[in-house]
Amino acid sequence: EKIMSNNTSVSNRWSSNFAYILAATGAAVGLGNIWKFPYIMGENGGGAFVLVYLLCILFIGIPVMMAEVYLGKQGRSTPANAVAKVAIENGRSKNWAFIGGMGVLAGFLVLSFYIVIAGWAVAYVFKSAGGDISAAAGDAKQIGALFDALTSDPKQLVLWATLVIVGTVVVLAKGVTKGLERIVTLLMPALFVLLTIIMIYAAVTGDFGAAVSFMFSPDFSKLTINGVLMALGHAFFTLSLSSGIMMVYGAYLPEGASIAKTSIYIAIADTVVALMAGLAIYPIVFANGIEPSAGPGLLFVSLPIAFGTMPLGGVISTVFFVMVTVAAFTSALALLESTSAYLVERKGFRRNVAAVVSGSAVWLLSLGTIGSFAGWEIFQFEESPMGKNFFEVLDYITANILLPLGGLFISVFVGWIVQADKVKQGMGLESQAFQMFSKSVRFISPIAIAVVFLNAIGLLSF
Ligand code: PHE
Ligand code: NA
Repeated sequence: EKIMSNNTSVSNRWSSNFAYILAATGAAVGLGNIWKFPYIMGENGGGAFVLVYLLCILFIGIPVMMAEVYLGKQGRSTPANAVAKVAIENGRSKNWAFIGGMGVLAGFLVLSFYIVIAGWAVAYVFKSAGGDISAAAGDAKQIGALFDALTSDPKQLVLWATLVIVGTVVVLAKGVTKGLERIVTLLMPALFVLLTIIMIYAAVTGDFGAAVSFMFSPDFSKLTINGVLMALGHAFFTLSLSSGIMMVYGAYLPEGASIAKTSIYIAIADTVVALMAGLAIYPIVFANGIEPSAGPGLLFVSLPIAFGTMPLGGVISTVFFVMVTVAAFTSALALLESTSAYLVERKGFRRNVAAVVSGSAVWLLSLGTIGSFAGWEIFQFEESPMGKNFFEVLDYITANILLPLGGLFISVFVGWIVQADKVKQGMGLESQAFQMFSKSVRFISPIAIAVVFLNAIGLLSF
C-alpha cells in the first residue's frame, strides 16, 4: 500500500512496472520541464543549448538514472544505506554513503525554491479562474504587470509557498498512498493532451516557424561553456537525478522489472514534455516581441497572453495551471521524501515528525527565494558570478554544481567500485547493452562532467 517507507530494509514493491514508471515520471516531469527548460533555453540562445541538453540526457542522464535505480534496488533501502550496503557487498568502505547524503542536501535546497515557483502556478489557477487572465485580453503589458504584481508582493508569495509545502507535508506524513498514484495516472496524460492543444493553438496563432528554428537550428556561437554546464545540470535536474529520488523509487522496483527499459521510457516522457512546453511557449514569445531571455517569468507571461485571446481562454488557463501545479506537486513530494526519509533513517524520527521538521526547514529557507523576487536587500547579490540574487545563486549551486558532482560520484561508484559482473547481473542486461552502459558510467559520464565542470568553474573564478 505505501509507496514509500523508511525501514532500513524495505519490503514494499510497486504494484507493477507501469505504476513505477508513472510515479517516477511524476517525479521527473515538473517545473523543470514546463517552467525552467523553456527559459534557460532562451537565456542560452536556443538550438545549440537544446542539442547539448539532448546529448546529456542520452549519454549521461539515462545511464546515471540506471545506476541510481540499480543502487536503490540492490540496496533495498533509503539512499545513504543503499549505497553503503552495495559498497560493503563489494568489499569497499561504507563511507561511500556520502553520495546519498549529498543527494539529500541537493534535494532540500532545490525544494526551497521549488515551492515558491509552484506557488506561482497555484496563484495563476486563481488568477485564471477569477478572470484576471481573460480580462487582460492578450495584452502583453497587462499580463506582464500581473506577474510583476505577484512576484513583488512578499505576502502573496509567502501565502502560496506555504500552501504548497503544507500540502506536501500532509500527503507525505500520511504516506503516499494509492490516491496519489491515481491522481498522477489521470492528470499526467491530461497534461500531455492539453499541452498538445496549446501547442497547436500556439502554432496556428503564433510564430511557429520562428520557434522551431530557434529551438532546432543550433548556432554554436551563442553557446558558452557556462551554457554547456547549465545544459548538463538541467539534464540531472529534469530527470530528478543525484537527489536520492531514483534510488528510493528503485528500492521498490519489482524483481523482474527492466531497469534499462523503464529508465528510457521515463527519460523519453520527460524530454517530450520539455520540448512540447518549448513549442507551446516560443511561438507566442516571438509573435508578441517578448525577449527569449526574459528569465523565470517567461512561462507566466507568454502563455497567459495566448490564453487571453483564446475562446474559453479563462477555462483553458485554469486547467493548464492546475496541471502545472499537479506536475510540480508530484515532484515536490519526491523531493521532500528524500529529506524526510533521511531524518527517519539517521535520526530515528517518526515519519510524520520527519515530514513536519523537514517541511518547516524548507519553508524557512524559501524566504530567501521569496526575498530575491520581492527585492529584499539582503537577498540581492549584484556581485556574485553565480547569479544576481539568492534564488539564482541557489539554483546555480544545486543544478550546476551539486547535481553534476553527484552524477560524477554515482558514475564512478557504479562504474569502478561495484564489480562489473554484479552490475550486469543486477540489471539483467545483455552483453552488448551492458558494454554501452559500462562505457558511459566508467568514461563518458565522469570525464564529460569533470571537463565541463572544471572549465565552467575556471571561468567563474576570473
Ligand atoms: N525533475 C523535477 C522537475 O523537472 C525536479 C526534481 C529534481 C524533482 C530533483 C525531484 C528531484 O521539475
Ligand atoms: Na523534469
